[in-house]
Amino acid sequence: MRTQVAIVGAGPAGLLLSHLLGADGVESVVLETRSEEYVLSRIRAGVLESASVELLSSVGLGERIRREGMEHRGIYLQWPGERHHLDFVDLVGRSVWIYGQTEVQKDLVAARHAAGQPIEYETSDTVLHDIDTDRPFVTYLDGAATPRRLDAEIIVGCDGSYGPSRTTMPALRTLERTYPFAWLGVLADVAPSTDELIYAWHPDGFALHSMRSHHVSRFYLQVAPDEDIAAWSDDRIWDALAARLGHGHDGWQLTPGPITEKSVLPMRSHVATPMRHRRLFLAGDAAHIVPPTGAKGLNLAIADVAVLAPALTALLKADSSLADTYTDRALRRVWRCTHFSWWMTTMLHRHGDDFDAQLQLSQLRWVVASAAGAQGLAENYAGLPLGL
Ligand code: FAD
Ligand code: DHB
Repeated sequence: MRTQVAIVGAGPAGLLLSHLLGADGVESVVLETRSEEYVLSRIRAGVLESASVELLSSVGLGERIRREGMEHRGIYLQWPGERHHLDFVDLVGRSVWIYGQTEVQKDLVAARHAAGQPIEYETSDTVLHDIDTDRPFVTYLDGAATPRRLDAEIIVGCDGSYGPSRTTMPALRTLERTYPFAWLGVLADVAPSTDELIYAWHPDGFALHSMRSHHVSRFYLQVAPDEDIAAWSDDRIWDALAARLGHGHDGWQLTPGPITEKSVLPMRSHVATPMRHRRLFLAGDAAHIVPPTGAKGLNLAIADVAVLAPALTALLKADSSLADTYTDRALRRVWRCTHFSWWMTTMLHRHGDDFDAQLQLSQLRWVVASAAGAQGLAENYAGLPLGL
């Protein structure tokens, strides 16, 4: 098989890249190791920055977001006894949208099917070859375990943090930070008990009240990285959420409901550079991971491919100027979001001793009391315009 751009990985980065290239008349083939059902049911991120919604809308993928998504003006920041609303629209003129990554994924897969673009699922043994030449290719086994070869002018690794593309990249430098905690993520069939997301600092550990729709709520609890999920019964989860989110304070009530999914998510920061070697490029989680606090992972994957798609279109026409600056331009945003995610994570999660706790509380009080503090958080959370 031959195509212009071979894309490894059918997550949001790979599928959106294929969609953007298609809009420019560039052909691509997407290879994915998992099944379509698995990819469409994976529960992950839930917040889209306004620039992500604008980009998706500009390529015909905004209609369902605006119809079924929930536009939020801001978030609540809280600690015991106090809850403060930060209104991003007032502070920086931008909102965010609650729209699950699962839904983004469904819209992208439907758009690829409608365009007649191939996504090959259940591939295995993917190997990238000849990446030091202008004629790279990918070999893999298809779903029936038949050996296949895909020749391309360009290969893009959108295969997440455990895919083969990053490890194929020569002279890659990786900068990393691990955190001494993880999140217990919970999905529940119950209407949210809040109109906008609540980020809660608490002596027992961080808690987040998020949502997926008017009927489905999403919660996260700070737990140990080696937490045994079997130790978290549904009752224990609701008790911890009620305590950390302040059930009963000022009459606020947390309504429990049936839990449909729970899992422990590790946390780390990871940035790999460069994101290009000749005709091999990396985008999204294949190149960088942020801890989830602040919801940047999905938005960064979208931002990468917004920069990459025009660069690849130009490279295919023998203009390498945008491709030559891809790493630098993408990493500028990656590092801004890496800093913001690190800052939100270290400000809100219990770690260290009482000295650390007082520093965190002082920082939180400053963020809500100072226009500069509130604007800084709002500008980063709602997201910078694409291209910055
Ligand atoms: P991915 O979505 O990981 O897609 C990569 C794709 O490549 C996958 O479909 C994978 O199956 C495929 N692949 C891997 N190896 C191969 C191979 N050899 N051949 C072919 N395909 C391959 N972000 C937030 O902002 N908030 C959250 O709450 C949040 N929760 C998360 C929970 C989990 C469990 C995880 C893993 C991530 C979470 N993230 C969250 C991060 C966010 O989901 C990612 O940043 C986002 O999915 C990045 O998109 P991507 O397309 O780069 O990578
Ligand atoms: C969600 C995840 C986040 O990391 C976050 O900061 C906000 C919301 C979510 O999955 O809903």
